[in-house]
Amino acid sequence: MRQKIVAGNWKMNKTLEEANILASEVTGMVADEVKGDAKVIFCVPFPYLLPIKNQLGNNTRIFVGAQNCSEHESGAYTGEVSAPMLKSMGIPYVILGHSERRQYFGEDGKLLAKKVDVALKHGLSPIFCCGEPLEVREANTHEALVKKQVEESLFHLDADALKKVVVAYEPVWAIGTGKTASAQQAQDMHAVIRTHLASKYGQAVADTIIILYGGSVNAANAKELFSCPDVDGGLVGGASLKSRDFTEVIKGA
Ligand code: G3P
Repeated sequence: MRQKIVAGNWKMNKTLEEANILASEVTGMVADEVKGDAKVIFCVPFPYLLPIKNQLGNNTRIFVGAQNCSEHESGAYTGEVSAPMLKSMGIPYVILGHSERRQYFGEDGKLLAKKVDVALKHGLSPIFCCGEPLEVREANTHEALVKKQVEESLFHLDADALKKVVVAYEPVWAIGTGKTASAQQAQDMHAVIRTHLASKYGQAVADTIIILYGGSVNAANAKELFSCPDVDGGLVGGASLKSRDFTEVIKGA
């Protein structure tokens, strides 16, 4: 049985005060209402990592993650944040390769392979994002593209390193659009990704890899999506910004 994970990607939202309130409300609701053992991750803007981590204290089911890190370990890279910095703050997760990073900041598979390496080298678990834009889905070449994204950035890893990676399938056309992939579409792509991992690492290793779905996950659709055999939870944007909505999503896992 794979661990279920529900990660909230807050993106570039919230003031510090709002962030503290959101984290504290979700923490309370999870403690009071959520059964099961799904792991929760708040992927927060860099400046909020420590305040939110400190607020969580030794909470055993809610963790903090970053939304990006540099491919460099240190040096003259003004404005960047490194994997060793995140590690030194006790941050266990980092999202890498989100479609917004690929689209607005020109991050490609080769660069992401370097980021994956530096994150793993410093003991962070990457939440590696992949997913196709609408025109690729419409051209029916989405499976090939997502397999290529996975290959480019992960296939150089050995099996032990791969096992520390969480994969997030996020079809770009479903991000922030309210247009969720159907449970069947999500399951199909998760199975494609898992089979592709199995082709390189063997089925036993592929079966251990946690694959999250992201793209307009909300309180109404989470349960159905998370019940698919190859969907191990979600990476949630908009619905993670409201404590009640996010708690309901977590309950779906
Ligand atoms: O990383 C999460 C994401 O991009 C999905 O965003 O707002 O569609 O849930 P949203």
